Amino acid sequence: MSDNAILNIEGKEYNLPIHKGTEGELALNISKLRDESQYITLDLGYKNTGATTSKITFLDGEEGILRHRGYSIEDLAENCTFLEVAYLLIKGNLPNVEELSTFQNTISRHTLVHEDVKLMLNAYPTGAHPMGKLMAVMALMSSFYPDSLNPHSQEDDFAVTMNRLLAKMPTICAMIHKHSVGHPMVYPTNNLNYVENYLKMTFGHITEEYECDPVISDAMNKLLILHADHEQNCSASTVRMVGSSHANLYASISAGIAALWGPLHGGANQQVLEMLQEIKDSGITPQQHLDKVKNKEAGVRLMGFGHRVYKNFDPRAKIIKGACDNVLKKLGVNDPLLDIAMKLEEIALKDEYFVSRKLYPNVDFYSGIIYKALGFPTQMFTVLFALGRLPGWIAQWKEMRENNEPIGRPRQLYLGEPLRPFIKMSDRK
Ligand code: ACO
Repeated sequence: MSDNAILNIEGKEYNLPIHKGTEGELALNISKLRDESQYITLDLGYKNTGATTSKITFLDGEEGILRHRGYSIEDLAENCTFLEVAYLLIKGNLPNVEELSTFQNTISRHTLVHEDVKLMLNAYPTGAHPMGKLMAVMALMSSFYPDSLNPHSQEDDFAVTMNRLLAKMPTICAMIHKHSVGHPMVYPTNNLNYVENYLKMTFGHITEEYECDPVISDAMNKLLILHADHEQNCSASTVRMVGSSHANLYASISAGIAALWGPLHGGANQQVLEMLQEIKDSGITPQQHLDKVKNKEAGVRLMGFGHRVYKNFDPRAKIIKGACDNVLKKLGVNDPLLDIAMKLEEIALKDEYFVSRKLYPNVDFYSGIIYKALGFPTQMFTVLFALGRLPGWIAQWKEMRENNEPIGRPRQLYLGEPLRPFIKMSDRK
């Protein structure tokens, strides 16, 4: 295969270097095209634009493959702890026993959050969405650690910031939950593992002993791993974009949390459950709901279905569905929403509308049902996504800085008014 493609514009030829990825993916390098030809490329929503090269995550949407640093998501979800996967994503290799032990010990020594964070949470109105609080607390963290603001800080500074982030995120998420339900926060217990400590801070009470059900901690561990990274999605691209201006890691991740909040991205897990609840409460059948979706009534979409990249199946959804069955069975939960979800899936997978558009259940379709069974309020679902995605955001930010990537700054095609004469206020109609 040639190393170049030739683009012919009005008889003039331009050489576009071809790049090949590890798994044979192909890319045309158009970075010099504008300088040479004055043309830019137009690609709304970056549907066909590679914004970077990366060594973190490989996904093949046609084949339903997801791998982190070369390891399949199925193997990682089956065999690893969440912190092992975090280590893998950020540092590039799976830790050995000693490396993991050092990593866990270091993380467990940074779990406390400054007491003044509570003051900020108290300023929020009752019922405020937890994602708004998470975004704000993450940005606030940068004020407590001014040493992390230096855009040219050394590797050691980055390591401390990364450790602080991974360690404090479960504490922050649990604090936000406790604040939402009006309970006093439960402080971290550093000799518990990452997931158990988080569950204790969330579901424990300061007046009682808390014993973690292994079914719940196993399910939670798996869910966090399944959300840990997903290459250049909306929030990861946001983190990289913000970080490309040399903004600090806390601010970049706060921006990533904002991107994740949207219902077309991480916010879909909350929307799925609300949709299922609405179908149940209104008494319509799953088929009637799907008819509304197909008729595009008031922009109704089948939440938890469809994906920008997966056009066959989402491997994470398969694993989650299995985990969902196990959790509900072991906890003895018989949730009618699960029946509605299964019926929706069954009908949609055979329906021409969904089949022709290659719409399949995504990671969010079943995760909400498990979160609900585990006892999380619906509004916390996207926070749980953020807790899982944190290592991915850190790894993406680190890679972007290590590659010394230029500031992200897309071009545009201007379609507004041409130059027009200024109209004085007195002359405006
Ligand atoms: N329900 C009904 N129709 C849909 C859905 C859906 N969930 N998703 C896409 N479509 C339709 C669109 O209406 C469009 O149809 P048209 O050609 O008749 O206009 C066609 O499929 C293509 O849709 P796009 O929005 O162009 O597809 P895109 O790849 O840009 O969108 C997205 C992907 C945003 C995930 C979309 O499928 C969606 O909105 N899904 C529901 C929200 C959701 O579950 N988000 C979570 C994604 S996974 C994650 O972020 C963790």
